[in-house]
Amino acid sequence: MTDPTLKIENLKLGFKSWSNTIEVLHGVSLHIKKGERVALVGESGSGKSVTARIVLGMLQQLKSARISGNVEFEGNDLEQMETKARHALRGTRMSMIFQDPTSSLNPVFTVYTQFKEVLERAEPRISDVAARQKAAQALADVAIAEPERVLDSYSFQLSGGMNQRVMIAMALVNNPALLLADEPGTALDVTVQAQTLKLMSDLVEEHRTSVLFISHNLGVVREFADRVYVIYKGRIVEQGSTEALFENPSHPYTRALLAAVPRITGGGIPDISEDTSDFLSPLVAHPGYSEKELLS
Ligand SMILES: Nc1ncnc2c1ncn2[C@@H]1O[C@H](COP(=O)(O)OP(=O)(O)OP(=O)(O)O)[C@@H](O)[C@H]1O
Ligand SMILES: [Mg+2]
Repeated sequence: MTDPTLKIENLKLGFKSWSNTIEVLHGVSLHIKKGERVALVGESGSGKSVTARIVLGMLQQLKSARISGNVEFEGNDLEQMETKARHALRGTRMSMIFQDPTSSLNPVFTVYTQFKEVLERAEPRISDVAARQKAAQALADVAIAEPERVLDSYSFQLSGGMNQRVMIAMALVNNPALLLADEPGTALDVTVQAQTLKLMSDLVEEHRTSVLFISHNLGVVREFADRVYVIYKGRIVEQGSTEALFENPSHPYTRALLAAVPRITGGGIPDISEDTSDFLSPLVAHPGYSEKELLS
């Protein structure tokens, strides 16, 4: 079997403060195969973003972070890689889309300048002509009607929806093997969000990109993902195919989560009253969907 694009095993994370260490991840295991769209869902503070940040290598340099476990990218243990090689993966083989496009795009530089920087990460000597052409094509791919105009714009001159598309285009322009999408589009209105997700979905399908899709919105997860991991307080509590998990939620936390979501709109994750003893019951993997079965 070929290596999964991403394989996380028994990932633990704590943040050390002057007096103690706060444990945030308690042994998370998950993986994504080539072309798979995998969602990680759970309430605020459950450890979704830190997981993605560890994959990108963004928490390792934090003095307060205590990290253990294994993260493999395309069969390579990221901890064993040289820092330089690891950094070189960002924006090339793996890229991330953040929640708020306006804060991730730099207002001081034009869209083109930022595109060029991204393209240079993969191809340091790329010419201006080639970079402009690639950038314009990437913008056209996310259904931006006037790519040339947008390339010469600054992010503050574009709408939220346009900026989100620009960001998706930048994240995908180097054809990454792995896309980490952390709450993409949550800062946008619902229609624009649906459109950008559709675009992202088409693009990743076309390129067989592996996606870790982090979201609060169970309705969107149901539409987008092939498989789902539910995380609660730094532990995966349930995993399965999207279909099985939504049709037959089995862990007490997942049940509470789904019961509390208005069926039709499938909005954000509600606050659920603490019921820790139940919610901390062991991981439920749907038949055929344990890490062991999926990776064998
Ligand atoms: N740099 C840090 N130092 C200390 N604690 C941190 C740090 N970053 C995150 N945490 C803590 O780790 C936990 C998990 O945070 P994380 O950002 O992964 O949550 P999340 O699941 O992404 O939530 P949300 O849905 O609100 O984005 C939280 O309790 C958070 O306060
Ligand atoms: Mg987050």
